[in-house]
Amino acid sequence: MTNPVSILAEEHGRFRETLDRLNSAARTRDHIGARRLLLSLQEPLDLHGRKEEQLLAALRERLPSVTLDALAREEEEERAFAADAIRSLDASGEGPAPAEIEKFIAWLRRHMWREENFVFPDAERHLAESELAALGARMAKLKPFERENGTRAP
Ligand SMILES: [Fe+2]
Ligand SMILES: [Fe+2]
Repeated sequence: MTNPVSILAEEHGRFRETLDRLNSAARTRDHIGARRLLLSLQEPLDLHGRKEEQLLAALRERLPSVTLDALAREEEEERAFAADAIRSLDASGEGPAPAEIEKFIAWLRRHMWREENFVFPDAERHLAESELAALGARMAKLKPFERENGTRAP
């Protein structure tokens, strides 16, 4: 079976690598590199967030919790944050990388830490093997959003 928690944890590992590279690009004022890295994160972050929404929905039914409610709201913020960072980067010209990049990196690292410490252990503790397997199968079928003209969203 495809364990949904393993899928999400593995994606976190890839995001962390990209965030490290984004951090280096921002520090060396490599705005082109930073922009490319932020763009490369958008679609995977969007897909990842939709997978997590499925896991959170199943878990919140079983286990009402203020922390899980807060994390579900953060899924929306996750998408808006990367777009904000790109906009501020575009407005920053040749100067130092805008503070929004550092904020985005810190925010995403903290969000993943909270998921790994609250959501993932709760999912493994409170969801049955069969529910986890069904979620894993549903996650594997999710596709990136498509625009009306058939191209993928940026
Ligand atoms: Fe998330
Ligand atoms: Fe996540």
